[in-house]
Amino acid sequence: MVRYYVSIAVLALALTAAAQSLRDLADQRGIRIGAAADPSHFTETAYAGTLSREFNQIEPENAMKFQPIHPGIGAYSFGQADSIVAFGRQHSMAVRGHTLVWHSQVPDWVTKGGYTPEQLSTILQDHINTVVTHYAGQVYAWDVVNEAFNDDGTLRSTIWSGTPGYIEQALRWAHTADPAALLFVNDFSAEGINAKSDAIYKMAQDFVTRSVPLHGIGLQMHYTTGNTNLTGVDLNIQRLTALGLQVHITELDVRLPVNSSGTATPALLATQAQIYRDVMAICLKYPLCTSIQTWGFTDRYSWIPGTFPGFGAALPFDTAYQPKPAYTSMQSSLATAPPVIASAGMLNAASYAGGAVAPGEIVVFFGPTFGPAALTVAQSDSSGNFPVELAGVRLLFDGVPARLIYARTGQISGVVPFSTAGPAVRVQYEYQGILSNAVSLPVVAAVPGIFTLDSSGAGASAILDVAYKPVTEANAARRGDAIQIFATGGGLNLSETNVTVARGRALLRMVSGLGMPISSSVPRQFRRNLR
Ligand code: XIL
Repeated sequence: MVRYYVSIAVLALALTAAAQSLRDLADQRGIRIGAAADPSHFTETAYAGTLSREFNQIEPENAMKFQPIHPGIGAYSFGQADSIVAFGRQHSMAVRGHTLVWHSQVPDWVTKGGYTPEQLSTILQDHINTVVTHYAGQVYAWDVVNEAFNDDGTLRSTIWSGTPGYIEQALRWAHTADPAALLFVNDFSAEGINAKSDAIYKMAQDFVTRSVPLHGIGLQMHYTTGNTNLTGVDLNIQRLTALGLQVHITELDVRLPVNSSGTATPALLATQAQIYRDVMAICLKYPLCTSIQTWGFTDRYSWIPGTFPGFGAALPFDTAYQPKPAYTSMQSSLATAPPVIASAGMLNAASYAGGAVAPGEIVVFFGPTFGPAALTVAQSDSSGNFPVELAGVRLLFDGVPARLIYARTGQISGVVPFSTAGPAVRVQYEYQGILSNAVSLPVVAAVPGIFTLDSSGAGASAILDVAYKPVTEANAARRGDAIQIFATGGGLNLSETNVTVARGRALLRMVSGLGMPISSSVPRQFRRNLR
């Protein structure tokens, strides 16, 4: 009987997962799932419908490259790229820009113009400034420089490389044109650990040290079934994200040998699905691996057959827009990979101070990588208690679920259980029954923090007079006045007590379970895809 119920539950879970698009699942992960697209297919209903249903990010496959967007001296042609951006806006998809500096798809007027390196540098500055300015506020991330390295780790010699330091220069120009855009260096065959990825890592490390505006590394991932080296990919994403950089998987496809009608064997499609599954699982281990994009999405339109004769069937949808095994494995990875948490994300909800927790403290926990896509705010029950499970989320302190105030992916608030005792507590986060890793936090008697009027943790405090008016310079408290200080983290002995404040005696009321507005200012280290 018990087994019967269990299998029904598993079936229900599987059905729920099957019903969710990649996009819905990625929203719960707070990550981008993208596809490269060509606007000439937008009029095809199945193309536009699949793209907008399954993906929350779009990138032009060609339209933003130098040749199409800047075809003549002083002549820019934004139409095709603009329609990608418009499609993205219409369907609430983030837009990635690709690419500003590349050796390929550069027009003859540049390559055959007989320009000196200095003149080329001026041309490139104008190009980057014009294109990035045109899309400022609309393109959230740019592949600024594409394929700049050789396989042996040396710099590729290109039309642009005559100027020493051109990669850094390009990043600086792009940053000036749109300081909010995330800037990437993108390459192929540098997904795992090898001479090329070592060179990119070294450059990235140097740029981070010198505050050159580089925010992430793009891993193209044009795979065959034989060139994946996924252990190396894991290590490479680990070392890049350890620099504080984001990683975007930018051009994923897995090409297969196909017959004359473009069909691959079921066995190869299964191998391909396993590669898609493994790639997703590795990325989802790292909170800073924030975007997974396929190069196209349907085998109907893919660069593979034209570029690698005899190969094809590389993408998650077939030529009739039907999901392939690769699609199902992307979906199940997104639905089942464990959420990831870090102890540094646990902060006092009033002061945003971290490092330790106290019993009864209201905390805000930044960073969990899987949760409700929309903010869900708890209601207290008739006895004033907040729930221990909210929108599928639980936060466990030594296994005891905290009462929760609000939850959404990457940010939840709750009350450290009053039973929590030191010296340390093991914290785990759970979403839809899937547990995160465990982190340990010191438990201290008290970590007092006073709420602030704008919930920023700084500025004017949430202190009211007896008429419930904020005590401010204009409404100053006088000696002998009773005031209320909204605070948390006082520990077990400070539920309501008299304390001496600078100007007299005041009532300090610890308000456990106080609902605070969600922070508009997510601390920098917990921002992921935010611009
Ligand atoms: C490819 C496009 O898919 C093709 O349509 C075009 O003819 C050539 O470029 N790495 C990249 C992409 O960074 O820009 C390339 O796109 C594929 C390899």
